[in-house]
Amino acid sequence: MRVLVVGAQGMLGRDLVEILSSSKEVIGWDIQELDITRREETREKIARLQPRFIINCAALTDVDGCETSRDLAFAVNSEGVRNLAVAALSVQARLVHLSTDYVFDGASRRPYREEDPPAPLNVYGWSKHRGEVFLQESGVDHLIVRTAWLYGRRGKNFVEAILQQAEAGKELRVVADQQGSPTFTRDLSAAIRDLMAAGAKGIFHVTNSGSCTWYEFAREILERKGMGGIKVLPISAEELRRPAKRPAFSLLDCSRYEKVSGEKMRPWVQALQDYFLPLEKE
Ligand SMILES: NC(=O)c1ccc[n+]([C@@H]2O[C@H](COP(=O)([O-])OP(=O)(O)OC[C@H]3O[C@@H](n4cnc5c(N)ncnc54)[C@H](OP(=O)(O)O)[C@@H]3O)[C@@H](O)[C@H]2O)c1
Repeated sequence: MRVLVVGAQGMLGRDLVEILSSSKEVIGWDIQELDITRREETREKIARLQPRFIINCAALTDVDGCETSRDLAFAVNSEGVRNLAVAALSVQARLVHLSTDYVFDGASRRPYREEDPPAPLNVYGWSKHRGEVFLQESGVDHLIVRTAWLYGRRGKNFVEAILQQAEAGKELRVVADQQGSPTFTRDLSAAIRDLMAAGAKGIFHVTNSGSCTWYEFAREILERKGMGGIKVLPISAEELRRPAKRPAFSLLDCSRYEKVSGEKMRPWVQALQDYFLPLEKE
């Protein structure tokens, strides 16, 4: 079974290629091989490859950058998805697409379910939401996996940012009024594999279980690395003055995933422990 992963050099893409390669023929393309904003090229290259599955990990993920690169955000995160859907339809491939908790506004008091109405707060969220809608309207056989707060061994992420700042002796000020579920890209990759195997269709929420604030996440990271003594200052999102607004609460209800896959995502604290293990001990 031939699987094409686009955005294969990204943080999730790299883990996904590795995990799927043990059981499938996997081809990984990133923007150098396929720029998904180019409609005709996307259709032609995919027609030549004839994959059975296409997994879209390509995206513009710089949430603050999207505020100023609005056109590019919509070109990649919305139009790019439409281009992939058209290409997938023409070769009758299934399209697996990644989306985000940032399609929600964070006003909910319980974890978001798949059918809850999106109401993004920022350009990134809107562009990802529009990508989902294009995909749903395209008629292609698809699976949308919404996830959140990703960190992986092969990408710039919050864990490394905190450690770098701590090692540099910089003052750590971390947002304490936004709550979510940190999710290890290896765990997410295995969950995507399981959903594909189960023939899942439609939208699924998948994150590691449990939740925390960015501040609590930072504290746990430092504890794990034996730097628990380092002071972290809890601040509000407003104090940080980032260009993009973010939801204060973006927990995702993963029960549909559990029901269909028969699996349960492990707690984020446990996953973080494994992130720090040398690869051969995993
Ligand atoms: N990171 C998170 O916390 C998070 C949370 C929720 C959902 N997600 C979703 O999960 C998915 C994977 O995220 P990630 O963190 O692994 O992203 P990432 O590390 O930023 O990887 C995205 C990849 O897509 C590539 N790309 C950008 N524009 C492209 C184009 N026009 N054509 C083809 N490839 C292109 C990027 O290349 P360049 O690096 O050269 O731009 C990069 O290699 C995305 O759909 C994202 O929206 C992420």
